[in-house]
Amino acid sequence: MLRCCTVCCGARDGGSPREKSFLLTSQSYTEAVIQMDRGVRRLEPWKIAVIVVSVIVGLALIIGLITFLLCHDQDRYYDASFLITNVDYNPQYERQTTDEFRNLSEDIETMISEVFRGSFLSKRYLRSHVVSLNPDPLGVLASVVLVFKFPSADSEAATWGQVNRVLLRRLKAISTNLNIDQSTITLTELNKEKGDNLLNNCCGIRRQTSSFTGVERITGGQHAREAEWPWQASIQLDGTHRCGASIISNTWLVTAAHCFRGVRDPRRWTASFGILLRPPKQKKFVRRIIVHERYGDLVVDHEYDVAVVELATPIEFTSDVHSVCLPEASHVFPDNSSCFVTGWGALENDGNSVNQLRQAEVRIISTEICNRRQVYGGAITAGMLCAGYLEGQVDACQGDSGGPLVHANSRGIWYLVGIVSWGDECGKPNKPGVYTRVTYYRNWIHSKTGI
Ligand code: ARG
Repeated sequence: MLRCCTVCCGARDGGSPREKSFLLTSQSYTEAVIQMDRGVRRLEPWKIAVIVVSVIVGLALIIGLITFLLCHDQDRYYDASFLITNVDYNPQYERQTTDEFRNLSEDIETMISEVFRGSFLSKRYLRSHVVSLNPDPLGVLASVVLVFKFPSADSEAATWGQVNRVLLRRLKAISTNLNIDQSTITLTELNKEKGDNLLNNCCGIRRQTSSFTGVERITGGQHAREAEWPWQASIQLDGTHRCGASIISNTWLVTAAHCFRGVRDPRRWTASFGILLRPPKQKKFVRRIIVHERYGDLVVDHEYDVAVVELATPIEFTSDVHSVCLPEASHVFPDNSSCFVTGWGALENDGNSVNQLRQAEVRIISTEICNRRQVYGGAITAGMLCAGYLEGQVDACQGDSGGPLVHANSRGIWYLVGIVSWGDECGKPNKPGVYTRVTYYRNWIHSKTGI
């Protein structure tokens, strides 16, 4: 009788002569088994242990890899576009920061959230963001980026189908004050790069991170995480951090005029991006520095403390590095609004700069209160704004100058409210931080940068 080692070679009776050399007679098979058995017995216990452990580790790795591939979630992006027939196109829709764009976008995003939150995709839906509102003879053509989280193992066609089905079915079913022409709805899958790009080109958006809560002291305060404040820049003189700044486009930054006191030669200045000063995510040379023409160089005066900086080459926008939104000149940020100030500045008065970006939550203080005798006694003018706490503790400090004070609107879009300008030491009671009021200088910024 011939026994065939079918598993290893698949040979059968009558196979080729070469295959036959793999065949064992029943006798030699038994001998081989005995030999092997002796071999195993000769193995020392530690060797057996090593083999067993390696096999277990190997299996665990394979199983882990398979589960990771099957269960790992992946962000998927779609572009949904449709015609809104009961809204007339308004030229203000051209700019994302106008109240008109914001209001209509908010209605659209709320509608899309309702569509998916109330469906079986509610756990998969992450967010939607209106990227453009375009004119159409019959109304307004909206383009919205939708972000979902799906297991990587789910096929693209299947998930696209699910999203499309829910969109078509539920847009018809839910009640909204927007009339959507059903026949115009299109849904296109975007690759990650395209999706990120569309979102990164919108100002004031940041990657979804669990928002940080509670009041923070800037001393011993909280480190910022990557991509949390992507518009933050560091302005450096001869390679050393001097001031903060905010990205308002891929070639323009806005900062404080007093940062350039003494040195205005653009060749000595650079700008770096990313939460660490060393190593930065990107670094750029400066082409031009435009300080407000009415900023007095010699007098210690805090008026007109604003400057714009043009970079020599454009920033490459990523989710870690991109722009903040500038508010319209007419926008009013109410007193007591919660804002964040960020910077690499000192943790206490006269301290040193830090390498990792920090953040602190502060509240807008009315100019009336800030001008009280025991606070700044009338020094706060229309171009300034106070933020912090009268009890002190939380504040910006030296080295934070020029950096952003930002506020998120109800859509979660971040606006530049102020530019760190001055204060009586740091975190002292009754001496909150004073910021350059961005709305006051909004038209000046536009006149210099076109933004
Ligand atoms: N002028 C300081 C600087 O150059 C910033 C002062 C901010 N001070 C404050 N207490 N908020 O960095």
